Amino acid sequence: MSMSSKEIRQKFLDYFESKGHLILPSAPLVPQNDPSLLWINAGMAPFKPYFNGRATPPKTRIVTSQKCIRTNDIENVGKTDRHHTFFEMLGNFSFGDYFKEEAIEWAYNFLVEEMEFEKDRIWISIYKDDDEAFEIWKEKIGIPSERIVRMGKDENFWQIGTGPCGPCSEIHYDLGAEFGCSDNCEFGCDCDRYREVWNLVFTQYDYTEEGKYDPLPNKNIDTGMGLERLASIIQQVDSNFETDLFMPIIEFVSQHTEYDYQSSEEVKSAYRVIADHIRSVTLAIGDGVLPSNEGRGYIIRRVLRRAVRYAQKLDLELPFLYRIVPVVVDIMGGEYTEIVEKEDQIKKAIKSEEIKFQETLDQGMEILDELIDELEQEGKEIIPGQDVFTLYDTYGFPKELTEEIAKENGYEIDVEGFEEAMEEQRARARAAQKDHDWSSAEIELFKEIRSEIDTPKFVGYTKPECETEVVKIIKDNELVDNLSAGEEGQVILTQTPFYAESGGQIGDKGALLNDDITVTVVDTQEKAELISHQIVIEAGELSVGDKLTAKIQTDQRLHIRRNHTATHLLHQTLKDVLGEHVDQSGSLVTPNRLRFDFTHFEAVSDKELEEIEDQVNKVIRRNLNVEVLETTLEEAEEMGAAALFNEKYEDEVRVIGIGDYSLELCGGTHVDATGEISLFKISSEGGIAAGIRRIEAVTGKEALNYINQQENILKQAASALKTTPDELVDRIDKLQSKIKDLEEEVTKFKNKLADSQADEVVSDLEEINGINVILEKVEGLDAEGLRTMGDNIKADLDSGIIILASNLGEKVLFVSLVTDDLVEKGYNAGQIIGEVARVAGGGGGGRPDMAQAGGSQPNKLDAALEKARELIAAE
Ligand code: ALA
Repeated sequence: MSMSSKEIRQKFLDYFESKGHLILPSAPLVPQNDPSLLWINAGMAPFKPYFNGRATPPKTRIVTSQKCIRTNDIENVGKTDRHHTFFEMLGNFSFGDYFKEEAIEWAYNFLVEEMEFEKDRIWISIYKDDDEAFEIWKEKIGIPSERIVRMGKDENFWQIGTGPCGPCSEIHYDLGAEFGCSDNCEFGCDCDRYREVWNLVFTQYDYTEEGKYDPLPNKNIDTGMGLERLASIIQQVDSNFETDLFMPIIEFVSQHTEYDYQSSEEVKSAYRVIADHIRSVTLAIGDGVLPSNEGRGYIIRRVLRRAVRYAQKLDLELPFLYRIVPVVVDIMGGEYTEIVEKEDQIKKAIKSEEIKFQETLDQGMEILDELIDELEQEGKEIIPGQDVFTLYDTYGFPKELTEEIAKENGYEIDVEGFEEAMEEQRARARAAQKDHDWSSAEIELFKEIRSEIDTPKFVGYTKPECETEVVKIIKDNELVDNLSAGEEGQVILTQTPFYAESGGQIGDKGALLNDDITVTVVDTQEKAELISHQIVIEAGELSVGDKLTAKIQTDQRLHIRRNHTATHLLHQTLKDVLGEHVDQSGSLVTPNRLRFDFTHFEAVSDKELEEIEDQVNKVIRRNLNVEVLETTLEEAEEMGAAALFNEKYEDEVRVIGIGDYSLELCGGTHVDATGEISLFKISSEGGIAAGIRRIEAVTGKEALNYINQQENILKQAASALKTTPDELVDRIDKLQSKIKDLEEEVTKFKNKLADSQADEVVSDLEEINGINVILEKVEGLDAEGLRTMGDNIKADLDSGIIILASNLGEKVLFVSLVTDDLVEKGYNAGQIIGEVARVAGGGGGGRPDMAQAGGSQPNKLDAALEKARELIAAE
């Protein structure tokens, strides 16, 4: 029977639904709340909390078809029939509900009844001590004992990292002797005859960080069956790649290359790499992972770049891979709808990465080739770690790619040296990122204070000032009782309206006052959960226990509020205009401006910027109410509030809602209604790291100032050019064409001048080796002027060599002429000029009697002419 993979998947889900299972959609490839995993790599991975009892499942029986990524075997992908970086795992799960008996019976019945497996081809492996499983397979199902094989922990005990695990039983299918490696090949052989189909895990332990197997509160079932492999059996094809999950991709690729899929093992393997990798990349980007230099993004970059290399092997015209995305969407979009919704973004991201990689690939390849040549000459076999790092850092060569190319040439790479260089770079990045260099002594001190006193109250969301009392004073990392006029320090109060820097919003400034004391607060920071006011005593003496009024600078706070709310509007608008892949990766909110960093894979175009600005201003004009809601993290997430991926939140959170437009977790201060922002103007857009863009903007009065400033610049420019701003562009165009005309004329004059210079130059004649030589520097002659001058000199010279060099500021030009009698003696203008120009960072050549060249280093002109002397002297 033949069945499409779609039907197989559906039958699986339906079968287990009929056994009381809840069908859940696949979880995203990015694990949620599981730092132990980079990717979801098995059907059970999203359900770990259900197995160990930390969360309650919606139902005790669940069935899924789960997207999985495993890249640890990436080198084998393409080489074998069955390795993948992306695959779909069909799985049924019991959380403290049914156990071995039902799991075995249903798995067997599904294969025999729904997939029409032949009973006597089914082989079973079980964990060596699992007599219970043996009994069930033998007595209940009726598998003869010679086809039930006991195996060790390596084969039949399932665990990945820490977490739920247990003994397992695998179902295998004998495809027949024709698939075997030899006539007497037996069960357990690595060849293709006995195909492992389904893994039933009897999940009863929790493998802890300490390496212990703790019994789980309940007995569970976790099963996993690769859809690709099952499809290859049902569709009776030799490899997973020949199923309907991959063939449309392979066929599409074959329409664009001369190489036939079957033509050689190497070609076949290239096709397979492309078909496999494009699925990973498409689905991963669909789940929000963009190619980058860190974490998951790096893995996706690596996978994609590996695919590009194989596309080159098939002579596919790049960028090409992005064109396969619609084929993948066609095959899998029905089940994983996010790739349908994001098809355009996925294509864009892949295309932009392909182009970026291609630009650097050629350059990097050249460098790698040179490196390998050098090593060969030196008789070495290992590429130094620092070079691998440079290739990675400057040319975007993933370490693994360098390693693969090195291997192809019989070389190794120094992995340790590479890791060291990486760590150094990370340390540099960390140092650069650290905004506040608080010493550990200071943090210790604050922790100690924190354990002694009540948590100070922040009242600044609603009040710009409050009455308060001094709890602690700190000077130079020590507690003191008082500070006198002129001294600086930090102070902690019982309650405060001062906002401590957090979530990008900078700390408040202001004053602490009473009849005797005036204190300026220059900054506010949070340290060990305490609000620390950085102060300067202006007048009087400040002592612990003093009662004061704490007052923030309200106009500064008003500007900050505008900018902070505008940041939320910008965030939502970026998602609307550029796409849902936009995520905040950093922000800064100050009184004067705001800055917002976000994930996006290309420059935001002027048109898009205009649209973003327009849309934000529209929301400002709608004067939407800004509501603050205090709730639990769980509820906030249910409401769909945007949260930052890497941020840690308390259980109690603040949610900022801006009308129907934006909902975001945030502890910052905001306007009451969007109208207060009054105007939003983007002042710059640019890239700050791979896949991360930055927008800077201004609001309110600053926006108006900014526009006025720009207008002033325009007016000044117009007046300098004696025109009006409206006519400015036209005026500049005209001036530019005039400048071009003038330049041409100047050149003509210079060339004429060259004529007359020729006479003077001849008088500089020197004799080297009995030959008349003229070596001359001139200023500002172009190639034509230089040639004319050379010809004129030559006409005055019976026998000799002329070398002229013209300094053009950024570059130099050379011309060399040799009279015929000397050409006959073997002097060659082309050769001489080539070597001379090389000294000045260039090259060139030509005929033996006349040749020209250029160079990029005018400061080497003298050295270059000196080289000419040497060359002629050496003949
Ligand atoms: N979790 C088991 C596996 O991945 C089913 O094989």
